[in-house]
Amino acid sequence: MANDPDQIERIETYLREQLSPARYRHVIGVRETAVALAKQHGIDADQSELAALLHDCAKECTGDELLSMARRNGLEADEYEQQTPGLLHGKMAPFIAAEQFGVDDEIVFEAMRCHSTGAAEMGPLDQLLFVADFCEPNRPYTAALDVLELAERDLEAAVLDVMQFKLRKTMLKKQPVHPDSFHAYNALLNKRRRAGNG
Ligand SMILES: [Fe+2]
Ligand SMILES: [Fe+2]
Repeated sequence: MANDPDQIERIETYLREQLSPARYRHVIGVRETAVALAKQHGIDADQSELAALLHDCAKECTGDELLSMARRNGLEADEYEQQTPGLLHGKMAPFIAAEQFGVDDEIVFEAMRCHSTGAAEMGPLDQLLFVADFCEPNRPYTAALDVLELAERDLEAAVLDVMQFKLRKTMLKKQPVHPDSFHAYNALLNKRRRAGNG
């Protein structure tokens, strides 16, 4: 069923109010890329639109806000999230999506939750959002274009490239890597090796 245009408009208004103009542009770019890739790969475009629009809705909350939102919703932040509460923005997005907009779709929620680290088990929508977040048209790095071209042919290969790029970047900045990122990378690498794509 198509997304309700009124709901989409309410979400856009909320995001314009909550996010900086640059972040709002990013979100709109992610939607454009996500919906286009969804159509190419036979993934649900409406779920893609919702996940893309709402994936960063908690991105500009303060660390304290994210930690208290987690507590309120019974989610225990791990040691990495305690140290860097910004890591929680994906996991908090479903709570906002449900409370503010009545979204009730676990597939959409899961894509939001793992959009920045990835996860050991990633379904098509998880993969789509993970890649679209990286290669939407406003991203300033040249790798974005290469990833987009690869994603059009082979979404899973693009996921692996994005994981490698992010891991390298985090390590070069001497920042801690969340274990979910390692688990996601190892799981996908093994899966592709088993399938002869490694
Ligand atoms: Fe994000
Ligand atoms: Fe994002």
